[in-house]
Amino acid sequence: MTAIIVAYDKNRLIGKEGGMPWHIPGELKRFRQLTENNVLIMGRKTYVSLGRPLPDRVNIVISRNENFTAEGCYTASSITGAISMARLFWPDKDIFIGGGAQIYSRTIDMADVLYITEIDGEFEGDTYFPSFDESLFVKETESHHQSTVPYTYVTYKRK
Ligand SMILES: NC(=O)c1ccc[n+]([C@@H]2O[C@H](COP(=O)([O-])OP(=O)(O)OC[C@H]3O[C@@H](n4cnc5c(N)ncnc54)[C@H](OP(=O)(O)O)[C@@H]3O)[C@@H](O)[C@H]2O)c1
Repeated sequence: MTAIIVAYDKNRLIGKEGGMPWHIPGELKRFRQLTENNVLIMGRKTYVSLGRPLPDRVNIVISRNENFTAEGCYTASSITGAISMARLFWPDKDIFIGGGAQIYSRTIDMADVLYITEIDGEFEGDTYFPSFDESLFVKETESHHQSTVPYTYVTYKRK
């Protein structure tokens, strides 16, 4: 399975000045649960904002710079290269595309599932999740959560 995983607000905002627009306690719980022990693919800018590989999962960072290295991470110079690497070396693991916007926009057409955290607020920022054709997916609401800002875990499964 190849899945996209993202948190966005009411305007599909995902980023601000290279980082996240919000800090909402508890909101990352599903991200951790789903991606742990699986493969997480991310763009170089998202990796830089994290500053380290995330533990207990395979991290693959995509950069057009073939000399780019990131300690504790695998690197690929294309999206298809990253996905091929994951399928070849970790065929039993699920593949999660963890952003950012550049990588989401190039992978949304190939994702089987979209794991989306809908943040019930409007934040300031500069980076957005791409619009996509919701009619191609079945949307399931998994759970609502109260925090400093409420959020809902939803799943879109490709029809
Ligand atoms: N809310 C969320 O769930 C969430 C999740 C992830 C990220 N974010 C936010 O999103 C923002 C970052 O997103 P972004 O779109 O600016 O950057 P990004 O997608 O994380 O990374 C972009 C970089 O990836 C590489 N890249 C992109 N397309 C490529 C391709 N086709 N082939 C090879 N390499 C490619 C390039 O690296 P090089 O320049 O090195 O070539 C490019 O500069 C940050 O604010 C981050 O916090 C939010």
